[in-house]
Amino acid sequence: MGDQLKLIRMAFSLLGPYLRRFIYLRFSALRQRWTYQVVPDAKNVVVIGGSFAGFELVNDLAATLPTGFKIVLIEKNSHFNYSFTFPRFSVVPGYEHTAFIPYDGIAKGAPAGLVTRIQDTVIGLTDTHVLLASGREIDYEYLAIATGSSQPLPVQVSATEFRPACRELQSVQETIKESQKIAIVGAGAVGVELATDIKGFYPEKDVTLVHSRGQILNTFGKRLHNYTLPIIRDEHKIRVLLNERPQLPKDRALLKQQTLAFSDGREESFDLVIACTGQRPNSSIIASLLPEVISKETSRILVKPTLQVALADGRSPRIFALGDVAEHGGPKMGRAGLLQGYIVMDNILAMIYGRAPSAIYKPQLNIEGSIKLTLGKSRLVIYAQDDPEATSDILIPAKNKAVDLGIAMAWRMHGADFRQAQAAKEMLAEPLSPAVIS
Ligand SMILES: Cc1cc2nc3c(=O)[nH]c(=O)nc-3n(C[C@H](O)[C@H](O)[C@H](O)COP(=O)(O)OP(=O)(O)OC[C@H]3O[C@@H](n4cnc5c(N)ncnc54)[C@H](O)[C@@H]3O)c2cc1C
Ligand SMILES: NC(=O)c1ccc[n+]([C@@H]2O[C@H](COP(=O)([O-])OP(=O)(O)OC[C@H]3O[C@@H](n4cnc5c(N)ncnc54)[C@H](OP(=O)(O)O)[C@@H]3O)[C@@H](O)[C@H]2O)c1
Repeated sequence: MGDQLKLIRMAFSLLGPYLRRFIYLRFSALRQRWTYQVVPDAKNVVVIGGSFAGFELVNDLAATLPTGFKIVLIEKNSHFNYSFTFPRFSVVPGYEHTAFIPYDGIAKGAPAGLVTRIQDTVIGLTDTHVLLASGREIDYEYLAIATGSSQPLPVQVSATEFRPACRELQSVQETIKESQKIAIVGAGAVGVELATDIKGFYPEKDVTLVHSRGQILNTFGKRLHNYTLPIIRDEHKIRVLLNERPQLPKDRALLKQQTLAFSDGREESFDLVIACTGQRPNSSIIASLLPEVISKETSRILVKPTLQVALADGRSPRIFALGDVAEHGGPKMGRAGLLQGYIVMDNILAMIYGRAPSAIYKPQLNIEGSIKLTLGKSRLVIYAQDDPEATSDILIPAKNKAVDLGIAMAWRMHGADFRQAQAAKEMLAEPLSPAVIS
């Protein structure tokens, strides 16, 4: 079967369950508006982290939680950080303000009092409470941890407020613009997108892509490597060094005037080295309460198929973990976190109604792990594999016309009005106060 046909078949297989779920949640949200009552002693379902996994879970719970329960979302950022666009907006100026989506659209239309958002950082947990950096303590009946993972710039920003966050992306743009000889270390999806964007938008720059293995994009099937490598090397004229793992300083991704040492003893200096070497899971908040549920190998939170944290003695706690922070056996992709939200919602509802949690997460690699990978200004490739060995896969080259990667759609999907982006841009033009700059 041709790849296009396989893709259509995959889309159809997703459509049925997705539509059923969508209709159920829509009807449930309508019923909620008429039946949900705010009561003074309502118990908290706390969601920590309002990104791809947490945002969707809050929406799902807002449509289904019965009277007597309410949702508290705790998220450190003022805006949803739409990080899919960060590599592109770290290279191309003028779009960074659109990568930060206001949270206004979360649980839109839900009864007043059902959802509360707290902008704060969680620093620890007890059996009954979530501890915040501000000193507040929030009690919980059920808890969902969706704290994802950390990566330095240009994959994530460290600022939690809109303007300094935009400034961080602008500083990467400026650093790239002023550097002629650039090395990108790590040819996962981030490294490949960033290297091809730099060459796509600045063809005169000298770009080297350094990877630890013989296969780039090695978490995907070999066919993706075979397709992308010639484009990177021959079309973009990027020098690719394979089977090289130069040592880099920890926790810093942008290294100006850096020398890299290679396996043959050779040293080479670059104006700029950008480390795109992967993620660090944000699991430490559970370390003091349940240290045994943090994987020693990956630092992710170990979960059962119900996505409850996996306690060794078989107890079923009221704590769930989903998305990139959880060791769930599925791909580390936003789409996976979104589908896991349904499982967590079902199981929390089951427990509220006195039933055993029985919804099980079974990764669907072809759907959750599929990738739409940009390869510079105007090219992209869609790739999906059916199993970890990629015995059957789909690869479809396509054109990438929108410089902003269609960010307006992301605003709509998060219930936000894209016209606000223009106002945000104007706000960005105003000078920062000295306190913020320091
Ligand atoms: C450049 C790029 C492009 C990508 N493109 C795609 C794509 O096209 N499709 C796809 O499916 N996946 C894509 N991915 C993968 C996807 O981004 C991740 O899988 C996804 O972000 C994981 O979502 P998450 O909600 O689990 O965690 P994260 O997105 O990591 O979010 C965690 C959230 O928790 C908050 N948080 C963390 N700790 C605390 C704390 N202590 N207190 C309060 N809040 C806290 C953070 O502020 C953040 O908002 C891409 C990744 C990158 C880097
Ligand atoms: N368009 C999209 O959908 C999209 C775009 C970007 C990212 N993502 C997803 O986001 C997640 C994170 O992506 P990522 O690219 O940041 O991480 P990643 O997939 O972990 O890739 C990082 C790569 O860098 C290599 N590496 C680590 N240290 C190195 C060193 N010192 N020298 C050379 N190479 C080194 C790693 O290889 P080793 O394993 O050998 O250490 C790894 O292959 C992934 O799940 C990815 O698929 C998706």
